Amino acid sequence: MTSSPLPFLSIILLCSALISFLPKGIEARGFPISSLISEKLYNQIFLHKDDNACPAKGFYPYESFIQATRCFPRFGSTGNLTTRKREIAAFLGQISHETTGGWATAPDGPYAWGLCFKEEVSPQSDYCDPQNKEWPCYPGKSYKGRGPIQLSWNYNYGPAGKALGFDGLRTPEVVANNSVIAFKTALWFWMTEQKPKPSCHDVMIGRYVPTKADLAANRTAGYGLVTNIINGGLECGRPGDNRVSDRVGYFQRYAALFNVDTGPNLDCANQKSF
Ligand SMILES: *[C@@H]1O[C@H](CO)[C@@H](O)[C@H](O)[C@H]1NC(C)=O
Ligand SMILES: *[C@@H]1O[C@H](CO)[C@@H](O)[C@H](O)[C@H]1NC(C)=O
Ligand SMILES: *[C@@H]1O[C@H](CO)[C@@H](O)[C@H](O)[C@H]1NC(C)=O
Repeated sequence: MTSSPLPFLSIILLCSALISFLPKGIEARGFPISSLISEKLYNQIFLHKDDNACPAKGFYPYESFIQATRCFPRFGSTGNLTTRKREIAAFLGQISHETTGGWATAPDGPYAWGLCFKEEVSPQSDYCDPQNKEWPCYPGKSYKGRGPIQLSWNYNYGPAGKALGFDGLRTPEVVANNSVIAFKTALWFWMTEQKPKPSCHDVMIGRYVPTKADLAANRTAGYGLVTNIINGGLECGRPGDNRVSDRVGYFQRYAALFNVDTGPNLDCANQKSF
């Protein structure tokens, strides 16, 4: 297998801790994400993230999100304005479900409580897959859900850390201690294809081309397919799943705030998982 060293190098340059020393102007070379999501809109979306009731209070400021997006310049910058806003709304919808503090009768509704948690509260296990020799678990470490996407499992912590410049296997806690890294892990998951799954990004910008197997499994593009990528094994192919409707509810609220439509295939009730 051969690959050009350049993309790897640029990832290191863009995603290492040094990024904070780069001039802010670098963002303006492409489409600045802040032109699509202002701090005001961000705080309107995450209305309750800094409530006393939220364990992640103070952990997810706007600036950390914006800073993390700088190492993924294609996020929210591909396609026309509608596509770009819809991708951002979809990303924020999914991370909101992953970190939700909402409930049916919550103040401002169940979908105003995204980014309320930064780590999984009662993990059922250490999420160590011992079969995975490429990313071996470090003794005593837990690869439970952390950060906006609730990154979990050794086989995600390992490659995420490698791409972003931290040791995900040895110090997985960083994802719940450093909010810029936390957002970067969520964006890494969003932007990275993990075969046979496409990347969430490619699905939301219309670059996904289903294979024969995908077509047979009803895996057509839309927010529901992103849900399938994130947690399809547990949530897809089951009509009326509450977790899926929570993901959809968040996306619908955010799409309305961005003033874009949600696109087709919102849920994955008729899809088989990957
Ligand atoms: C944006 O792009 C999508 C496909 O890439 C297209 O279907 C849609 O009509 C476009 N919307 C506008 C407002 O141009
Ligand atoms: C992260 O924070 C926890 C306490 O919340 C601390 O025990 C741990 O050492 C920290 N880890 C790293 C890698 O910063
Ligand atoms: C695909 O969706 C249709 C209905 O839309 C359903 O009848 C069929 O069982 C689905 N196929 C799979 C493989 O889930």
